[in-house]
Amino acid sequence: MAAAAQKFNFKVETTEFDFGGERYKRTGETLPDSAVADLRRFDAILLGAIGHPDVAPGILEKGILLKARFELDQYINLRPVRLYPGVQTPLKDKGPDEIDYVVVRENTGDIYTGTGGFSMKGTPQEVAVQSAVYTRFQVDRCLKYAFEYARQHGKKIRGKGRENTLGLVGKTNVLTYVYNLWERAFHEMGKSHYPEIRRDYYHVDACCMWMVKNPEWFDVLVTGNMFGDIITDLGAITQGGMGIAAGGNINPEGVSMFEPIGGSAPKYTGQGVINPLAAICAMAMMLEILGEQQAADAVEEAVKYHTAHSLKSMAAGRMGYSTSQVGDLVAQHVADH
Ligand code: IPM
Ligand code: MG
Repeated sequence: MAAAAQKFNFKVETTEFDFGGERYKRTGETLPDSAVADLRRFDAILLGAIGHPDVAPGILEKGILLKARFELDQYINLRPVRLYPGVQTPLKDKGPDEIDYVVVRENTGDIYTGTGGFSMKGTPQEVAVQSAVYTRFQVDRCLKYAFEYARQHGKKIRGKGRENTLGLVGKTNVLTYVYNLWERAFHEMGKSHYPEIRRDYYHVDACCMWMVKNPEWFDVLVTGNMFGDIITDLGAITQGGMGIAAGGNINPEGVSMFEPIGGSAPKYTGQGVINPLAAICAMAMMLEILGEQQAADAVEEAVKYHTAHSLKSMAAGRMGYSTSQVGDLVAQHVADH
């Protein structure tokens, strides 16, 4: 980021916060309300991977990541699935031309709202309910973002002409309330406001097959929170895995937060072997949102250059370089080009 700022002549002021597992162990605090208020004053947030071996699953996830997403109303989770040159994909016969699409995951609704509960807990008759909740408002604002995104960024070439497409990923055959709402809203909005954008629909299970077999079909996909969570891990492995996959939690009217989409990998703590490209790509997405498009492009180009020419693998410990060396390579490339 510093290299990009210097090269493209803008200033970045950063403040570091130590929210995460270590702080939680020390103070019992995850992300206090006062911190959320602090965070609102920033132009953007770059979140490191969180997770700690001594903290029970769910505490940091709910207390920090989900709290920030919900409180800051980051209602879009934007996850590009883009295979960079030189990066190994487990998909046979697919390359950067085929694996190049974006998932727009709704980020504040669905099963993630925590609506539900137990009754008769601990008895053999125990009941657990967790509801998928969507309001028309949530669906519409997410779809609007996705259509706008497809209008600006869509680029797939189908048949002879160029055509921007938006695919809705749902489960209209079973989730006949929630995804019926999504489907109606999708077609209504598309017909009335985005007639030039082709609308596709995929059931989520079939979508998983196509993401493996025909990823080149996709341009922009939009889906609910839970399906979006699942399919973007599948997408991530097709683009080289957690070492490279980045995403943005976006509030188009507020403060957005960018992150490598994998959690932390505590077994590598302190060894300098983790791939920093996912965090660097998240930073590039952040520059784009901050209006520094040229700088964002330059960082992405630098990443691509080094995936193609330098790194031996995206996997921790197998890059052929240490974490900071990879960072230096990217920064140097940004400075020199
Ligand atoms: C993600 C993660 C989170 C999610 C977890 C850590 C709460 O899997 O960002 O995809 O489910 O959204
Ligand atoms: Mg996930």
